[in-house]
Amino acid sequence: MKLTYYGHASFGVEVGGKHLLFDPFITPNDKAKHIDIKQIKADYILVTHGHGDHIADVVAIAEHTGATVIGTPEVLNWLKKKGDLKHTHEMNFGSADFEFGRVSFVPATHSSGLPDGSYGGNPGGYVIASAGGNFYFAGDTALTMDMQLIPHYAKVDFAVLPIGGNYTMDAKDAVKASDFIGCNKIVGVHYDTFSVITIDKEQAKTLFRMAEKELLLPDIGESIDL
Ligand code: NI
Ligand code: MN
Repeated sequence: MKLTYYGHASFGVEVGGKHLLFDPFITPNDKAKHIDIKQIKADYILVTHGHGDHIADVVAIAEHTGATVIGTPEVLNWLKKKGDLKHTHEMNFGSADFEFGRVSFVPATHSSGLPDGSYGGNPGGYVIASAGGNFYFAGDTALTMDMQLIPHYAKVDFAVLPIGGNYTMDAKDAVKASDFIGCNKIVGVHYDTFSVITIDKEQAKTLFRMAEKELLLPDIGESIDL
């Protein structure tokens, strides 16, 4: 699987010939000014929750690509009022089959209000199980025992976890999460975008190395094979 990082908690994964894009927050991100959202390919856009730093570019990219947007009914109904979303697939906690594989929307310990204060339903993460590989994106979440259920959905090849602290897990919590998930290859996201989530990247990598795990921190715009 090829993963491309777009900054903050936004990334794309190519799986089964389809482009999956998660939580696009690119144009408002000063650190991602070199990313042109018109160049981003997306067949599906998966949204974990309603916070502005996860949905900012959903409508623009969906209009441009015609991608199917996956998310909670509350978040999708709000986004539909902001633009012309032609294809949506609403999910709550549960699993559904798509042409590229099986998607399980799983709980996150966080909140999910929309930018204007509207109710956004519950926040979650996604487990993707496909013929081309399996992975988990936790979304914004604290460390939670629920992560012990991830192996029930799939034996994941890698997991994308927030490591910035303050609003989510930090690197120390993410090491424990990786035990729960049963995966030692972690891509760290949700750090350095804002001053309160600034981290020491080398220190975070060392924490993982000491636990005989790998923390990958791709540059914004970089693609890695996983
Ligand atoms: Ni959030
Ligand atoms: Mn966030």
